[in-house]
Amino acid sequence: TVLVLDFGSQTSHLILRRLRSLNVYAEMLPCTTKLADLDWTPIGIVLSGGPSSVYDEGAPSVDPAIFDLGIPILGICYGCQLLAYLINDKNVARGEAREYGETDLTIHNVGSSNAGRLFEGFDDTLHVFMSHFDKLVHLPEGFVTIASTKNTAYAGIAHESKPIFGIQLHPEISHTNRGTDILANFAIKICKARPNWEMGNFTEKEIIRIRKLVGDNAQVIGAVSGGVDSTVAARLMKEAIGDRFHAILVDTGLMRLDECQQVKETLREHLGINLTIVDGGELFFSRLAGVVEPETKRKIIGETFIDLFEKEAIRIEEEAKETPRAGKVEWFLQGTLYADLIESLSFKGPSATIKSHHNVGGLPARMMNGQAQLKLIEPLRELFKDEVRAFGRQLGIHEDLVMRHPFPGPGIAIRILGEVTPERVEIVRKADHIFISMIKEAGIYDQMSQAYAALDTNRAVGVMGDSRVYGMICILRAVTSVDFMSAEPFEFPFQLLKNICRRIVNEVDGITRVVYDCTSKPPGTIELE
Ligand code: XMP
Repeated sequence: TVLVLDFGSQTSHLILRRLRSLNVYAEMLPCTTKLADLDWTPIGIVLSGGPSSVYDEGAPSVDPAIFDLGIPILGICYGCQLLAYLINDKNVARGEAREYGETDLTIHNVGSSNAGRLFEGFDDTLHVFMSHFDKLVHLPEGFVTIASTKNTAYAGIAHESKPIFGIQLHPEISHTNRGTDILANFAIKICKARPNWEMGNFTEKEIIRIRKLVGDNAQVIGAVSGGVDSTVAARLMKEAIGDRFHAILVDTGLMRLDECQQVKETLREHLGINLTIVDGGELFFSRLAGVVEPETKRKIIGETFIDLFEKEAIRIEEEAKETPRAGKVEWFLQGTLYADLIESLSFKGPSATIKSHHNVGGLPARMMNGQAQLKLIEPLRELFKDEVRAFGRQLGIHEDLVMRHPFPGPGIAIRILGEVTPERVEIVRKADHIFISMIKEAGIYDQMSQAYAALDTNRAVGVMGDSRVYGMICILRAVTSVDFMSAEPFEFPFQLLKNICRRIVNEVDGITRVVYDCTSKPPGTIELE
């Protein structure tokens, strides 16, 4: 395993992705990690970029023990400056100008020595992506220059004899030509990583880890939503600990058409998972009555989820007392993915900036099973969405579910601009069903990342038959996105969009107009509330 130490760069996780695309297994940990705390020894270490300046007080640094291991080290951007700075603090200073964007890198021919190995097989110049203000002002002792740019004399450095390398450019960013080849040279040629990592290894490894963590007796509960992440996590849990895992689906009354039924079929009947469906519809609607403020809606929904889960955890705990083979409910499963964790993983620690909506309103911070706080188990935390999908397929989960667009925990409630009522939810369900069915019929569902219908509860006039009618406005939204942090509106063929609108107005009582939201994110968000 190659260890990536994260210093907080926006693109640190991409280093992992590139390494894994080479079938090299890598894990990322905060830069504050002490090597002595790991129960494995890395074969090489990558120090990521980061927003700080190495000479600032309190700037993140690294466990000096990494230099004693004798294993290869690659510093990228901040990581490169840190290497130089740790050798001698005179080595790094603020540059006169920020070097940001694409530039040409000159690779220096340092022969076949140790230092030449990082750019082995490369031509003399390379188009790369840089983003830095600070730079190296001196070459650290024992190092040679392996690359430079117009503005940066030491854009690439390498120790003459030890396998220590530093590059100012970002090989993980797609604008850097052959960036993956640089990482391949480091991981495969220099660290001697065997490129044999596959999802299959992940399953085995994770099942062993879960069994060890949970032990022979404890029970685990987890919320499932019907989305690919929670389904894959549940399937893995079932494989690891069998019936000691209990999946809970809260029917909020805010889910899409037939969704609850589909989740039931998939989990209970197809995957054989212990599934309890908690009917919370009435409770959600009663608590949401009269509420129009979006954040208040979200809070109410989050709280209600927690209340219902807590009740279930206690019930399962009580039942367990009568079952000799199952112990206490100690763990709470979440299908958190790597992307959800990026902020909390960074060296800043579990920061306040993590999006509150990545779990349903604070779960499991407040989740108790009667006596103790439930511990969190997140078997997918090292995976990216496409990896979870591949994994889901491997576990035999149906393709429709594997490729399903994400659906937010608060459901249709945050897709109704105004008060949430059962009648309005029904309207959105029907419109959404028409929209998504027509997208699927057109064969373009997989081309977009997320699509849905929402409701503006203001009234607009329409003409139906010979009379004026007033109805609500249906808002259609469809976006493409890589990471859901930014998104672009999907470009529908206009005729298809018109056909969709016509069907919705004709078939859904209560809607007189349909509009398509063309806002990018930013400045918009994907959901309306
Ligand atoms: P935004 O609206 O923030 O959405 O651009 C980004 C992604 O997150 C989903 N989303 C949520 N998911 N609970 C969730 O589980 C929520 O409260 C929530 N709000 C937004 C949204 O559907 C999109 O995929």
